[in-house]
Amino acid sequence: MKIQIINGPNLNLLGVREKSIYGDNSFESYLEQLRKQYADVSIEYFQSNKEGELIDKLHEIGFSYDGVILNAGAYTHTSIAIADAIAAINTPVIEVHISNVHKREAFRHHSMLAASCVGVIAGFGLNSYRLALEHYLTK
Ligand code: DQA
Repeated sequence: MKIQIINGPNLNLLGVREKSIYGDNSFESYLEQLRKQYADVSIEYFQSNKEGELIDKLHEIGFSYDGVILNAGAYTHTSIAIADAIAAINTPVIEVHISNVHKREAFRHHSMLAASCVGVIAGFGLNSYRLALEHYLTK
C-alpha cells in the first residue's frame, strides 16, 4: 500500500503557526508517529507553498499510488487548477483539514476540491490524516 500525503501552503509552520487552531505538534513529528503505527504502509510526504508544485506532485504520483491524503490549505477554497488535477488522475484523493473549517470564517466553508475527492475529513486535528489513512486500509 502506497499512500502520498500532500500538504499545501503554510502547513510547513504547523507547531508554530496559530497554535490555538492547529496545535503545537510539527507535521514531521506527527508523521514519524504515523509511520511507526502503520509500519507496513509506505507513507510518502510532500509539502509546498506553491500551487503549481502541488499540481506537479499530483500528476507525478497520481497513476501509481493507492491513495492521496491532501490538505491543500487555503488553496482548498480557491483552486480550480488543483480541482482539475485531482479529476485528471486515477489515484483517489481524500481532502483533509486539521480544523473544522465549517466552524470558522465563511470563506472557509466552500471547497473547490471536495467534488473531485472521495470524501472530506475536517476538524479532528492531526488525527484527520490518520482517519483518511484508515479509509484506504479498510476499503
Ligand atoms: C486548513 C484550513 C484552511 O482553511 C486553511 O487555509 C489552512 C489549514 C486546515 O487544515 O484546517 O491553511 O486546511
